[in-house]
Amino acid sequence: MAANNNSDLLREMKRVAVDIDRQFDTLLQIPDDARGDLYKAMRHAAIGGGKRLRPLLVMATAGLFNVDESCAIRAATGVEALHVYSLIHDDLPCMDDDDLRRGKPTTHVAFDEATAVLAGDALHALAFGLLADERTHHDPFVRAEMTACLAKAAGPAGMAGGQMMDLVAENSTFDLPTVTRLQQLKTGALITACVEIGAILGRVSKEGRTSLRGYAHDLGLAFQIADDILDVEGDEEKAGKALHKDAKAGKETFLSLMGLERAKDQAKMLVDQAKSHLNGYGSEADMLRAIAEYTITRDR
Ligand code: IPE
Ligand code: IPE
Ligand code: MG
Ligand code: MG
Ligand code: MG
Repeated sequence: MAANNNSDLLREMKRVAVDIDRQFDTLLQIPDDARGDLYKAMRHAAIGGGKRLRPLLVMATAGLFNVDESCAIRAATGVEALHVYSLIHDDLPCMDDDDLRRGKPTTHVAFDEATAVLAGDALHALAFGLLADERTHHDPFVRAEMTACLAKAAGPAGMAGGQMMDLVAENSTFDLPTVTRLQQLKTGALITACVEIGAILGRVSKEGRTSLRGYAHDLGLAFQIADDILDVEGDEEKAGKALHKDAKAGKETFLSLMGLERAKDQAKMLVDQAKSHLNGYGSEADMLRAIAEYTITRDR
């Protein structure tokens, strides 16, 4: 059963990755004018790499409600565009100053800083454009709700706020509740938005989304604990990015506060808790269950 789930997951991850690459390829055809390098930088960052975990969450959640796949993949490309923007900016010299991302030079290294900033800006705009496009959903209320959901997750009460706390963390000593809040905003908010957007596409009401939000909340925290664990004991080649950066930056993480073993136990507990939120669903939610397991067993 577990092996089965795992091969289903790997197959689905591959399929979503191919679809996302195809979407970006179509959306980002390089124009024959002075904007060429902007498009090339966007393609460099967006195509060919990453686990595509956020799009997978959109697709798996939309799948619970039999949403048309050609609509769901457009919304999924939107959240991935937002994620890629966040990675480009996160890697800039003024933030984490990283040279490697997804096994390739970071965008500002492959191009230059100004082009990388613009590529991030443009992917950010592309994300909202995709969610607001009538080809993504014919009902304007659904489009508005998805767009508002992503805006909240990306803004100061979401990812941008979490990134700010992360900067402050370098020169502060945060306690566990504060680190938990930081991680929830920095990473958890977008992960929750992916699940919400899948459900919004399925026309599930806000109240009807409570258990899925619970799943996403616990999954998001487990995901970031796993990122922190990988930062300490991962393999740079597999991760495709520089590791051992959190301790060097003097950042308080789940690991520095709890120690490796307790952090691992906590991540496992969160995954079990995430799955328990899906108890009201049958086998149609197996992909979401498999994603939860993968979140802490992954090596990249
Ligand atoms: C990395 O996200 C940044 C964090 C939020 C920790 P992922 O681990 O999902 O990166 P990719 O998309 O697979 O490259
Ligand atoms: C990045 O967090 C989070 C966002 C981009 C919002 P990290 O800085 O921990 O991610 P990695 O480790 O560089 O992928
Ligand atoms: Mg960072
Ligand atoms: Mg970083
Ligand atoms: Mg990290």
